[in-house]
Amino acid sequence: METKIVKQDGITEVVQLLKQGEIVAFPTETVYGLAANALDETAVDKIFKAKERPQDNPLNVLVGRKEMLYSLAIDVPDYVNLLIDAFSPGPITYVLKNAHKVATNITGDLLTIGLRIPDHPIALNILQQSDLPLAAPSANTSGSPSPTTVDHVIHDLRGKIAAIVDGGQTNVGLESTVVDCTGEIPLILRSGVINQEAIKNVVGDCHIAQELATPSSKYKHYTPEVPLILVHSKDQLLKMIKKEQAKNNRIGIIVPKTSNEIEADQVYLLGENKSESARNLYSVLRAINKRDVDIVISLSFESDIVMDRLQQAATKVLDASDNIS
Ligand code: TXA
Ligand code: MG
Repeated sequence: METKIVKQDGITEVVQLLKQGEIVAFPTETVYGLAANALDETAVDKIFKAKERPQDNPLNVLVGRKEMLYSLAIDVPDYVNLLIDAFSPGPITYVLKNAHKVATNITGDLLTIGLRIPDHPIALNILQQSDLPLAAPSANTSGSPSPTTVDHVIHDLRGKIAAIVDGGQTNVGLESTVVDCTGEIPLILRSGVINQEAIKNVVGDCHIAQELATPSSKYKHYTPEVPLILVHSKDQLLKMIKKEQAKNNRIGIIVPKTSNEIEADQVYLLGENKSESARNLYSVLRAINKRDVDIVISLSFESDIVMDRLQQAATKVLDASDNIS
């Protein structure tokens, strides 16, 4: 299949393709999504095939407006309205009791459905023009990092989907917070930039689920081709570099900015503030390559969410008390 790559002016055509049962990728503020008409089971099935996604990992659904979100769920607790007013459109997915109006293969056996209103002009434009709910997981092959640039989507899905809308690099760079809103107190299943504190501030309380929170948690997280060691301090980084250099290993480092004190074969820059590091993380993880390096050592970063995703990608995580000899 030939994959059309269009810009913003190709949106009308993309909406036509969605209505015809094709699948297309477009940017949201978090990561690129791969979308299908959520009412069309055959179209939804194409997402699972293109992504090679296990059938028991439910897809979340994007909607363009609050009324549609409410129409796809039942028994929605009152606090959800507060969360929507505070955070939507935005990087938060609400898990609610499913009204079973969308194709059954979206949620598999689950009685719940994940719904989100994205905050991106292209995504909102497509949702509004089509007036459809769109099943839309991240537009990557299962097991690789979520795509934050059009090149990532092209790399994973070219030839397998009808079109890609090029909207440049996504602004947030990490996936939405997934919050289970079926109970009395919201429960965070997947962390994101909208954190526990932000939710507490709006509704008074919020819990964080322990392990195996989302159905996807049982699948292996992305790890780069070479070992990735996450260190706690610059001192540990310098010692690790020495140790690996002694073994003649080619070393990559993930750091906020370049520094004269640190020598490495590859320097992967994440940027100096929280939002920059979040935006750049997945491009860096995708760039790590065994042709260039034998091992990568990453400094710790200020952003909790960047740390969460780095910990998942790391082969080893050092804490402050670990000595390197
Ligand atoms: O930011 C995002 O959420 C992006 C953009 C494209 O919207 N999408 C995304 O989709 O990251 P995906 O499929 O890669 O991740 C959705 C997560 C998965 O961990 C899935 O298991 C979980 O949400 N999920 C979906 N429906 C669920 C449900 N009914 N109950 C619990 N978890 C659910
Ligand atoms: Mg994903």
